[in-house]
Amino acid sequence: MDQNQQKEAIAKAALEFVLENSNQPAALGVGTGSTADFFIAMLADHVRRFTGAVASSEASAEGLRKIGMPLLNFSDSGLMDFYVDGADEIEPGGAMVKGGGAALTREKIVASMARRFVCIADESKCVDTLGGFPLPVEVIPMAEVPVSQAMQQLGGKPVTREGCITDNGNIILDVHGLEIGDALLWEKTLNMIPGVVTNGIFAQQRASLLLTMKGSEIVRVDYD
Ligand code: A5P
Repeated sequence: MDQNQQKEAIAKAALEFVLENSNQPAALGVGTGSTADFFIAMLADHVRRFTGAVASSEASAEGLRKIGMPLLNFSDSGLMDFYVDGADEIEPGGAMVKGGGAALTREKIVASMARRFVCIADESKCVDTLGGFPLPVEVIPMAEVPVSQAMQQLGGKPVTREGCITDNGNIILDVHGLEIGDALLWEKTLNMIPGVVTNGIFAQQRASLLLTMKGSEIVRVDYD
């Protein structure tokens, strides 16, 4: 199976999991990216099983609108059972790097409003240590230079993502060369840099469940 076929199969497994484990119509958190797009497309036949969805980006909101899923905000949705989203990297403890699609801030907020984060990540995303994928960091535009300097002091090489303005009007620095051992400590440390809106380490909002593949077999890893 190639990467795209894996993404599609994993999205299908996630949909089955969510449908099996949602007893009554409930709100669903929906992520961003190509794996999440497969999931959104498959949701089309099951819209009535949900009261609606909270989208983690304008792009996903558009996809959800197209399939006729009502879009909810937090005051309508309350605490959700599931947030389903991809990842750029996931390590054996369930901590992730996210933000390749620049939606990390809303993704973290929506994840914080769900009991379980269902990570849908193809085989290539499963790593021993986070940091091989450059870490996306959303930054208030005026703080580009001081945040870049702070990243350099921490041993990283920040590169401003060209032509990218987030849904929140900010820029993204992709920080190369970080070896993220203690993910929770790194997440907290980077959050303290003035001008950082969100960093792409999801350790506090780590995955509760990973659906991935080994070759053509679905692999399920429960973290809680
Ligand atoms: C979006 O900002 C990211 O966090 C995505 O979840 C991540 O980049 C995974 O994307 P793909 O499913 O396209 O690989």
